[in-house]
Amino acid sequence: MKKTNWIAPSILSADFSRLGEEVQAVVKAGADLIHFDVMDNHYVPNLTVGPLVCEALAKRQFNIPLDVHLMTRPVDSLIPSFAKAGATYISFHPEATDHVDRTINMIREHGAKPGLAFNPATPLDALNYTLHKLDLVLIMSVNPGFGGQAFIPEMLQKISEVRTMIEKSGKPIRLEVDGGINADNIRDVMEAGADTFVAGSAIFSATDYTAVINQMRQKMSD
Ligand code: DX5
Ligand code: ZN
Repeated sequence: MKKTNWIAPSILSADFSRLGEEVQAVVKAGADLIHFDVMDNHYVPNLTVGPLVCEALAKRQFNIPLDVHLMTRPVDSLIPSFAKAGATYISFHPEATDHVDRTINMIREHGAKPGLAFNPATPLDALNYTLHKLDLVLIMSVNPGFGGQAFIPEMLQKISEVRTMIEKSGKPIRLEVDGGINADNIRDVMEAGADTFVAGSAIFSATDYTAVINQMRQKMSD
């Protein structure tokens, strides 16, 4: 299957006081989707943004899919409001819900695309009977909660395992990797099998967003 590589800036590292302008700037710089990290100070030790902020961004009509990454427990109660707020993808962590299959169905029923997210030490078992129902698998390459952490190299093997499972399924499921991605390691992550690359600090700490996104694409096409 031919892969198209997508770059997903994570707004976690954006300047929140100018969020709309920051999103507009990364869209202009060539982003493929906007990664929207939702943290609840319970499932992860940090607190970020909710459906109101998602809706405010969706209303600006930047013409780019919103990729909502729920790091919350529980999950189900948030799905209707994020779907209504304009989320394109909604991903959650299997250990954060009691009924993984039900949560996947719920996301689909509310008109969004379901994704399952795996922490570095979480095995892939939850994919065994669910992969075919998903639009996206998200492999965390840092422990969730904060931007700016270092990529955990053992995750390359895990990414390859998921790539094999996706190929076997024959379905166009995105394989997204989140945490510590930059222009120096993006090629390795791609070669392991990823096609969707979240980058927070690597993009928003740069002065020129277009230059860093172009550099990432260049590294993948060299
Ligand atoms: C971490 C978040 C990530 C984070 C990545 O819990 O899920 O999306 O923003 O940030 P960087 O790219 O700085 O590791
Ligand atoms: Zn994330």
